[in-house]
Amino acid sequence: MSSDRKPLISGNWKMHLNHLEAITTVQQLSYLLSEDDYEAVEVTVHPPFTALRSVQTVLQADRIPIVLGAQNCHWESEGAYTGEVSPAMLAKLDVRYVIVGHSERRQLFGESDEIVARKLRAVLGAAMTPILCVGETLEEREEGRALDKVAGQVRAALDGLGADTVGGLVVAYEPIWAIGTGRTASAADAQEMCAHIRSLVADGWGPAAASSLRIQYGGSVKPVNAPELMAQDDIDGALVGGASLVADDFARIVNHRLYGA
Ligand code: PGA
Repeated sequence: MSSDRKPLISGNWKMHLNHLEAITTVQQLSYLLSEDDYEAVEVTVHPPFTALRSVQTVLQADRIPIVLGAQNCHWESEGAYTGEVSPAMLAKLDVRYVIVGHSERRQLFGESDEIVARKLRAVLGAAMTPILCVGETLEEREEGRALDKVAGQVRAALDGLGADTVGGLVVAYEPIWAIGTGRTASAADAQEMCAHIRSLVADGWGPAAASSLRIQYGGSVKPVNAPELMAQDDIDGALVGGASLVADDFARIVNHRLYGA
């Protein structure tokens, strides 16, 4: 990672941990992380909606510098959308980052590039930061179409945004075949894709936007592979699923710098 971009390590809890389990997990995490960790890395957790309020309360009451994130939202700020949660509601809970376009949302819930673009704008409109997820399937990688697929997803989501806005975003590169499978992209392949994303942002939005944009890698990140992934020039953090549910594992990923590449 580059020294001028603060790494962002995010725990995507998906549909795991009820509000009581979420409280316990965030408290355990806070015991394991130090001031030095928070200085070196920005840490976010993304609980299910039902646990956001509880986690927010613990973070505030105990002054824990973990940042609250959400996993999804609707693009409207209110209205007749049964079952949905708006960006404004999340912002009111001190949520600062919202994952948009996770491959599970795209594949299982039919979210198109157009929906992802709308959600991304809605998150920005509520003064939060989107974590835009992009990534290719195994078939696309084997057919040599991974770079084009990801470039298309990035452009579809960011088209029409200004350079300053794009420079403040987070993109998470998550090869779909690596999510929850125990298969990680090699550090070299992950670096290649993250560099590709940064260079297409440089082409479209200029060098300043490209150099401040933070790019996470996601897909079976574990304590054992985090140091090598995080040591890559264009990887500025990780979006962690399974390993973020276990406080000890997530803490070891956050303080990966102590373990060396
Ligand atoms: P995983 O999930 O770490 O369990 O592979 C990553 C993600 O889906 O964000």
